[in-house]
Amino acid sequence: MSDTYIVNGHIIDSRNNIDEIGDLHIADGKIAEIVRSRKSADDQTADVYDATGLVVVPGLIDMHVHLREPGYEHKETIATGTAAAAAGGFTSVACMANTSPVIDTAEKIEQIYNIANETAETNVFPFGSITKALAGAELTDMRGMYSAGAVGFTDDGVTVMNAALMRDALTLSAELDFPIMVHCEEHNLNADAVMNLGETSRKLGLIGSPKAAEDIIVARDIMLAEMTGGHLHVLHVSTAGAVELVRQGKKRGVHVTAEACPHHWILTDAEVENQGTNAKMHPPLRTQIDIDAIIEGLRDGTIDAIATDHAPHAPSEKAEGMVDAPNGIIGLETCLPLVLTYLVQPGYLTLAEAIAKMTDVPANILGIDRGTLSVGSVADVTVIDPNSVKRVDKTESRSKSQNTPFDGWELKGWKTITLREGKKI
Ligand code: DOR
Repeated sequence: MSDTYIVNGHIIDSRNNIDEIGDLHIADGKIAEIVRSRKSADDQTADVYDATGLVVVPGLIDMHVHLREPGYEHKETIATGTAAAAAGGFTSVACMANTSPVIDTAEKIEQIYNIANETAETNVFPFGSITKALAGAELTDMRGMYSAGAVGFTDDGVTVMNAALMRDALTLSAELDFPIMVHCEEHNLNADAVMNLGETSRKLGLIGSPKAAEDIIVARDIMLAEMTGGHLHVLHVSTAGAVELVRQGKKRGVHVTAEACPHHWILTDAEVENQGTNAKMHPPLRTQIDIDAIIEGLRDGTIDAIATDHAPHAPSEKAEGMVDAPNGIIGLETCLPLVLTYLVQPGYLTLAEAIAKMTDVPANILGIDRGTLSVGSVADVTVIDPNSVKRVDKTESRSKSQNTPFDGWELKGWKTITLREGKKI
């Protein structure tokens, strides 16, 4: 394989504290060298990519994606979901277990790796479920799934309501050092809810879910992580209360990490009035107070990672109306420009801080050897044009689904190329 040089780019690699102009040399699918002073490639046979004015970062990692295969291939497949990921600048995705059947055995973990090997454009790292069939009644064989390559465990989409099961899952997490990723909504408080409980739900006559539904489970699970020493990862934080609980947990030394999704720090529940079911997800869009708290959490490190919760649903399903339509929105292709436009441009995060939350940090949480440009590491690389301005057009999405509330939004800071193991995807 010939060498590739990405020259004169703004290279960011938080693991190695690199944030400067330089040349990246890739050989045999690995990072060969970073030359910090301007140097043109002298090898005439090499591929040379001029990255003047562009940002060169480790391939982005989305630690929260629904690829829907097996079972819901009308919404997405591993092939189409990872094509959307690559289009959005991601080279690795971690996929959720709420497929049909649920990913709840070692064989099913292997099956995801096998399909991904044949069809995926990006690396795919599967989660196994915490409970069998997501039924909340019996723990899965997490030990076996972990040996088969599961990068963590989650019943995402539903909460494990039995605290004793969560205790046992976190006890095993402490022993084997994998993360337990929790969806936090007290089922009895959000039963039948289709949005946040507040002014808009009352105006529209829709059943709302109180913020307490999330906060109660976040508090419970932090206590269980404290008790067991397990690694708790709070998925898609949506409330100010949850941010504060994670902050306090970290202060006490609990092994708790957290992620937030763009829609939860950009949109409020008022959006339901404009967007209908494209603003329906679990947990729901909240209020400006929550947005401000999530952004503060991202700034002060309480919220470690940025993830999408890419949740594709077919147009016919999303057309069923607020009460019956499924929860979720797609996010892989809009995440990066939303981060640059809404977090970096206003100065909430530096570019390096934002990129760390999409590379080094999720790699560490998942324990995967990605997310860095260290010499010798796999050459997964994303090149970003921070000044490119483009309107989101859902009809151009590589996903099988088009359920985005950001259609038509003008965003600044899109990826230009994505390399996986040194090859363009
Ligand atoms: O909105 C959501 N959709 N939240 C989840 O947790 C699950 C996801 C899905 O699977 O559609």
